[in-house]
Formats: sequence, structure tokens, C-alpha cells
Amino acid sequence: MQKVLWGTAACAAFLFCHCGTALAQNKSDDGLAVGRQMLAEDNPGELWIDRGNRLFREKRGPKKASLEQCDFGLGPGKLDGASAQLPRYFSDTDKVQDLESRLLTCMVELQGFKREDMVKTAISPAFSDGSDMESLAIYITSRSNGMKMNVRLSHPKEREMYKAGEYLFYRRSGQTDFGCVTCHGEGGKRIRLQNLVHMIDKKQLQEVVGSWPAYRGAHGVVRTMQWRLYDCFWQMRLPELEYASDVSIALTTYLHRQGNEAVIRVPGFKR
Ligand code: HEC
Repeated sequence: MQKVLWGTAACAAFLFCHCGTALAQNKSDDGLAVGRQMLAEDNPGELWIDRGNRLFREKRGPKKASLEQCDFGLGPGKLDGASAQLPRYFSDTDKVQDLESRLLTCMVELQGFKREDMVKTAISPAFSDGSDMESLAIYITSRSNGMKMNVRLSHPKEREMYKAGEYLFYRRSGQTDFGCVTCHGEGGKRIRLQNLVHMIDKKQLQEVVGSWPAYRGAHGVVRTMQWRLYDCFWQMRLPELEYASDVSIALTTYLHRQGNEAVIRVPGFKR
């Protein structure tokens, strides 16, 4: 019951903010935009990239191995442009994987880490030094900087994932009866102070998919796409989104493919 009430209250608050405060928000948006620009020029996320670079080469885990033999789709250790083609199908796991689930595979197979331990620590507490996963994900993505998103859907399992992602994007569910499309399906929507990205608009979606992982000012850490989706599930009051689950990979496959041709520029900066 408690939960239901909270859901209703949140829903009412959402509607209220959405309708009532648009004018006041234009002003603060300008301030935010200036701050964003300043931070984009001197983005703390660069520190995570440096750390990821170091972690990638370090011999770690029970097998005392580095990640240099990890194959992100272009061959072992080939990082330039690799993340621009993710998610994609990998024959060794017989799965479509995004960057983070692929990193998990390599941490387990090459380095001997336990999957559960890696999953447990993948999303770091706010204002911490961040997790290994966050540093590695942003370092590997940075090796596609300046390149264009190019998710191809050439394998049948990639096409299946895309279809599932499309379905999930539009499907309303849970106690709030929200789908992704409720908040991200038209222009000019807001929730509290935040502008909601219109993801059916290709240009806006491209800015999104080219900018993750991103430094999140409000948390003082780098966040990844897995976290972003987890957080939107929470906002929808859906059951917790399992890290690196097929549901998360389906949604990322859909978003990345729809945003194909986006120029990748990380670290992004988010409020
Ligand atoms: C209740 C409203 C709501 C719903 C429903 C929702 N989101 Fe979000 N979403 C947000 C908010 C709020 C933000 C963050 C805006 C900010 O921080 O400025 C966001 C941000 C995002 C971003 C990052 C945008 C950027 O600026 O880079 C992605 C990607 C995203 N959502 C995907 C999804 C997906 C996929 C779903 C469906 C599973 C979904 N969202 C459902 C509210 C929602």
C-alpha cells in the first residue's frame, strides 16, 4: 500500500511540475547551460579515462591477466572504433552484448573475477572514485571518439534484440503505466528541472547515444548507459533492472541503432 501511495504521489508531482513550472525553468536552464559548457571544456570524466587506460593494461584478478586480449568485436585488443558498433553478436558467448556485458565476460574469462562480485560493484556510490567497470567503459568508449555510431544488425540475434528493444521502448507497464515513450516520446517535456530528451527525434537521440558514459555532476562520478537505464526503470517504479540483463541490452541496441551516425564524444557531461 505504501508503495502504491508513493507511486501515486510521484505521478501527481510529475504532472504538477510538468504543467506548472515551465516558465520559471527557462531561466535556470540558461544558467545550467553555461555551467554545462564550462564543465564540458574541463570535464572531470577525463580522470576516469586515465584510470580506465591503466586498469585495462594492469594484470589483475585470480588469473593475473590484463584485459589486453579482450575482443570487443574487432579482434583481441582492438579498441579503436569497437564501442561504436556495440551492442553486437559474439559467437563465443552466442549472445548480443553491449560494452558493459562484454567487459563482464572478459573480466570473468580472462581475469578470473567472479561475475556476481563485478556486478555488485559495477555501479559506484555517488562521490566515490567510481568503479573499475565505469573507468573501463569510458576508456574503451573514448577510443571511438570522433567516430560514428554504426550498429549494423547483420546477425539475426541482433535484429531480434533490436525488435525487443523497440517493443520495450513503447510498452507501458507497472503501477505508473509509463513506457519510455511517456517521458521521451515528444519534444519540450520536463520533469522537475530536467528537460526530457525527445528520443524519437533522431538528432536529439544522437546527442544522447554519443555522450555516454558521462560525468554526472550531481553524483560526482562517471555513469554508464547501464546506470542510466537502471535509473529510468526506478523512475517508472518497475522492478529493479538487472545489470547487463537482456532487457537492458535490448533497449541499448534499439537506442544505439536509432542513433546511428551519431558522433561519439566522451566523456559526456550530465547535470
Ligand atoms: C518518468 C519519466 C521517465 C521515463 C518513463 C523514462 N525516463 Fe529516461 N529519463 C528521465 C529523466 C528525468 C532523465 C534525466 C534527465 C536529466 O538528468 O537531465 C532521463 C534520461 C534518460 C536518458 C539519458 C538522456 C541524456 O541526456 O543523455 C536515457 C538514454 C533514457 N532516459 C532512457 C530511457 C528509457 C530507455 C526508458 C524506458 C525504459 C526511459 N528512459 C523512461 C525520465 C524518464
